[in-house]
Amino acid sequence: MRLNDRGHLVIGGCDSVALALEHQTPLIVYDEELIRENCRRYRQSFAQGKHRVAYAGKAFLCLALCRLLNEEGLYLDVVSGGELHTALAAAFPPERIYFHGNNKSPAEIKMALDAGVGCLVVDNLYEYSLLKAMAKDYKRKVFLLLRVALGVDAATHHYIRTGQHDSKFGFSLGGSELDQVVADALADETLELLGFHSHIGSQITSLEAFRQNVEIIYSLARHYGEKHSWQVQEINLGGGLGVPYLPEDEAQSIEDFAGHIIRAAAEQRAVDGFLPRLTIEPGRSIIAAAGTTLYTVGSIKSVPTVRDYVAVDGGMTDNPRTALYQAKYSCLLANRATAEATKLYTIAGKSCESGDILIWDHALPAVKSGDLLAVLVTGAYNYSMASNYNHLPRPAVVMVSGGLARVIIARESYADLVRLDRL
Ligand code: LLP
Repeated sequence: MRLNDRGHLVIGGCDSVALALEHQTPLIVYDEELIRENCRRYRQSFAQGKHRVAYAGKAFLCLALCRLLNEEGLYLDVVSGGELHTALAAAFPPERIYFHGNNKSPAEIKMALDAGVGCLVVDNLYEYSLLKAMAKDYKRKVFLLLRVALGVDAATHHYIRTGQHDSKFGFSLGGSELDQVVADALADETLELLGFHSHIGSQITSLEAFRQNVEIIYSLARHYGEKHSWQVQEINLGGGLGVPYLPEDEAQSIEDFAGHIIRAAAEQRAVDGFLPRLTIEPGRSIIAAAGTTLYTVGSIKSVPTVRDYVAVDGGMTDNPRTALYQAKYSCLLANRATAEATKLYTIAGKSCESGDILIWDHALPAVKSGDLLAVLVTGAYNYSMASNYNHLPRPAVVMVSGGLARVIIARESYADLVRLDRL
């Protein structure tokens, strides 16, 4: 963390107090160099040879980020027509896009086919039938992966675990649907089945579950490969690497994560020399730490002998993760970052919900109304999950680098809030 001689938090060479004055609060600030560095670390440690890194757009997506990801040579995972539209509007190359989702509509499938996305990740039998029927109209191969739920139970919040047997995502193991779809896709003239996909969950801090994921998906690929004399070309292992949110949090580095997966795949390869292309889809571990949210402190309420509440000008509308997953964040006074923390405060949002709390019991210097509060590591699943509850406009987002800031998403206005209303 950088501070200047005025004791202000500095991000990407920009004084956070000056950023807040110029752009108002709440303001989400992205450190461009850190995003680029994370992209490069992923590519250097993982995407050697034919392996691929696809950024998971659900963590945060906008035109400027798509452009940056394209410059960094990453692939992109999108999960909806809206995310696909964003990527295409930014001229992200469609052939480097993976299209996900557990309930793609016919219109979304058509959009993906029209755009020529590189690969559709098919989640279930219904979607497969839609794709098979629609793909016939395109005079080219349509590439797909099949998403499977491998029964890997990752240790993370149960709302963000996805690989377990009892999951809404993917084909189940042990059922007949997967057998049926693999056989059918391999016989189809338009469809080209590349292989399998498995994402076991998010914010995973132990590498063991990722190794299990590799082992099981390899044996699945081997099974179907032998059964159909088919060379599986790609295995997509999803995302999920956890990040430290608090100073005391433990997390694995990008290099450790990538190395672990490559080693696990090499062990499998030792069995029979089988090495398909490996793809991973990190979201959080590329973007989370690059984001900081700046808020202005408003009311401060002391509940005698219980706690002190500090209310900020945003809250669960721009960061629902505490309310949804009991997520924990760290914060500081960005305008007095060198002052000594003397007291515990609970940071509350401004929505009409008792659950609208960003951080419980965090040590800060004596807080005053008008202070600038910075909540750290808010780059992933914050803006992308933001809402307009209580008709709060969504914050502005700036990208900072080398002392310069540029708005990459404008602040929503009150006029925007009624833009779609009709009388
Ligand atoms: N690939 C697939 C198929 C996914 O479903 C996800 C995340 C990712 C990749 C990226 O995972 P990451 O590297 O970011 O962990 N809203 C929750 C997280 C939901 C994650 C959903 N899928 C949160 O705020 O923690």
